[in-house]
Formats: sequence, C-alpha cells, structure tokens
Amino acid sequence: MENEVSYGGMTFVPMLTREAIAREVARVAGEIARGCESENPLFVCVLNGAFIFAADLMRECGIPGAEITFIRLKSYEGTSSTGNVKQVLGLTADVAGREVIIVEDIVDTGATAVQLRQMLAERGARSVKMATLLFKPDSLRQGPAPEYVGFSIPKQFIIGYGLDIDEQARNLPDIYVLKQ
Ligand code: IMP
Ligand code: MG
Repeated sequence: MENEVSYGGMTFVPMLTREAIAREVARVAGEIARGCESENPLFVCVLNGAFIFAADLMRECGIPGAEITFIRLKSYEGTSSTGNVKQVLGLTADVAGREVIIVEDIVDTGATAVQLRQMLAERGARSVKMATLLFKPDSLRQGPAPEYVGFSIPKQFIIGYGLDIDEQARNLPDIYVLKQ
C-alpha cells in the first residue's frame, strides 16, 4: 500500500487495506447467504463504483443459483453529491417476483438507494435489500440504513477499490481517504 496517492492536486492517505476489505466482504457475503430466501437471488450492481465489490461479493456468497445484472447511476461530481441521481444505463433484467440485493460501493446521502428501491418495488421485486461496502451514517438524509454493511465510516471522501475521484483511482486495491 502506498503511503500517499494524489489525484487532481488532492492528496489521499491509507484508510482500509485490501486484507481488511477482504475480511469484511467475506463477512457480508456470509450474512447474505444465511439471509437468502430464494434459490436464485438477483444482485443488482450499481455501476460504476460497485463493480469490484460486486465481483468479490458474488463469488464469496457461494449461492449456486445467484444471478447478477447492472444499472448505472450517477450523482457525484468531484468530491460531493449533486443531490440529483441520473440514470445513465437502464435496468434490463425482469425483477418481478425476484429476491433482489442491490450492491453499492457506498451509501452517502441515501438518494441513490431511495430511488433504486422505489424503482425495483414498482417493477414487482418480491423483496429488496441493499449491501454496501461502505456506509456514511452521518451523511444519511433519506431512506432506511442498508441491510448489509461492510464498514461504517465518518463523513469523509474516499477512493479506491472501485470508488473514484472524477473517474480515476477505481483500480487502487486499497481504500484511501482525502487528507484533511
Ligand atoms: P448517495 O446517493 O448520496 O447515497 O451517493 C451514493 C453514490 O455517491 C455512491 O454510489 C458513490 O458513487 C458516490 N459517493 C459517495 N461518497 C463517495 C466517496 O466518498 N467517494 C467516492 N464516491 C462517493
Ligand atoms: Mg456508486
């Protein structure tokens, strides 16, 4: 793990190692597998940020009939939420009657989660739960807390393991936080 990384003139310092991330992903995967009510749950991965978490999580869950589909939403510009969630790539899967697990990289204001839960319920999902690698409880302004959480973290801007700063840094294997 690097001591510091910089993007766009901003400096980030280490926060969560790949080993710590792997441990929490395995724990969350176990919780999902135990809480699963159907043979073929549908993971809905929220692009772009959740792609790495979803890949690791789905393999760790070890549910033979699990399926995955993708949706792309965008609410962040730079290091803050615009408060306005744009659907960039629509949901193609038929979710009617399915047990759905939304997979997010991070829940911040809750705006993305609220919009997605509503859309999945309208399309007839049998149940909708959310798994997020990271959760900023102090930023939550709407909706319920996610059912499955890897790490609860303070209100700080972080990057790595899928999370970006203006589309970069998603490829960092560890997670870094913006230096104060
Ligand atoms: P929400 O709709 O405000 O809960 O924001 C959720 C989305 O904002 C996440 O899926 C991320 O894409 C993005 N986001 C929130 N906090 C961070 C952060 O600290 N780093 C990078 N992206 C973030
Ligand atoms: Mg995201």
